[in-house]
Amino acid sequence: MKTSLIQTGTVLALSLIGLLGVGITGVAGAVGEPAEEMILEGKKPARFNHATHTAQGMACGVCHHDQNHAPLTSEAIGAVTDPATLRCVSCHNDQMPKQELRQAKDIFHARCKTCHQDGYQGKKGPTKCTDCHLKSDKKAVEGC
Ligand code: HEC
Ligand code: HEC
Ligand code: HEC
Ligand code: HEC
Repeated sequence: MKTSLIQTGTVLALSLIGLLGVGITGVAGAVGEPAEEMILEGKKPARFNHATHTAQGMACGVCHHDQNHAPLTSEAIGAVTDPATLRCVSCHNDQMPKQELRQAKDIFHARCKTCHQDGYQGKKGPTKCTDCHLKSDKKAVEGC
């Protein structure tokens, strides 16, 4: 915990230096939640919109966590120097000790589909394959 506070401080200092370089959508260049719907790329690209989710009061840490699997606050994300480190595959890859947490499909289905099925504060999300996955031309996503 202590080290992570120190790291957060360091990152904050670095981000103040790099501020002008990193802005995505956030105020004054700090890293904020992306305003546009994003496409999660992979063999079966899927849609994800931050606004739909955070509008329900969901904290960033419901989905974003650090290398110790501790939830990230919006402040911690705001101080990130390289937003690419927030990408799930930057940790969930072949280096991940647990085999079942290496594949995009496994972690995204575990996080996204599970909540859609169980619901968040009583509200369920869509669970059909094509609710998340993009349709390629007129053909439905293979396997759906
Ligand atoms: C709540 C959203 C959601 C739903 C519903 C969903 N998926 Fe996914 N799925 C994702 C995300 C996000 C990814 C990661 C993107 C990728 O890897 O292409 C993913 C990845 C995958 C992959 C992995 C592609 C690869 O990289 O190997 C397959 C296959 C897949 N989904 C099939 C399905 C099928 C079949 C269904 C319906 C039974 C389904 N998904 C329903 C969100 C969803
Ligand atoms: C319901 C899940 C969820 C919540 C809640 C959430 N995010 Fe995200 N966020 C994601 C996913 C998924 C990605 C894409 C990760 C990837 O590309 O692997 C992402 C990407 C990002 C990125 C872009 C990283 C890049 O690729 O450049 C930023 C910045 C970000 N989130 C900030 C936030 C902030 C700030 C909050 C809270 C206000 C937040 N997110 C809440 C799921 C979430
Ligand atoms: C900085 C590294 C890192 C990043 C980035 C990261 N994770 Fe993780 N994640 C971990 C670690 C570490 C664990 C715990 C591994 C273990 O239990 O051995 C974990 C566990 C998980 C788990 C299983 C436990 C649970 O909470 O259900 C899921 C699902 C998961 N991550 C999804 C995601 C998603 C989705 C993203 C992107 C929005 C993401 N992770 C980004 C490091 C990371
Ligand atoms: C903690 C719960 C939770 C998590 C985690 C979550 N969702 Fe959702 N999602 C919801 C709920 C609830 C709704 C319905 C919102 C509404 O109807 O206003 C929703 C709606 C959606 C929608 C349809 C509305 C839109 O934005 O177009 C898509 C697509 C979606 N989620 C994709 C995803 C993907 C992809 C992930 C994982 C990266 C994810 N969700 C993670 C709870 C969650």
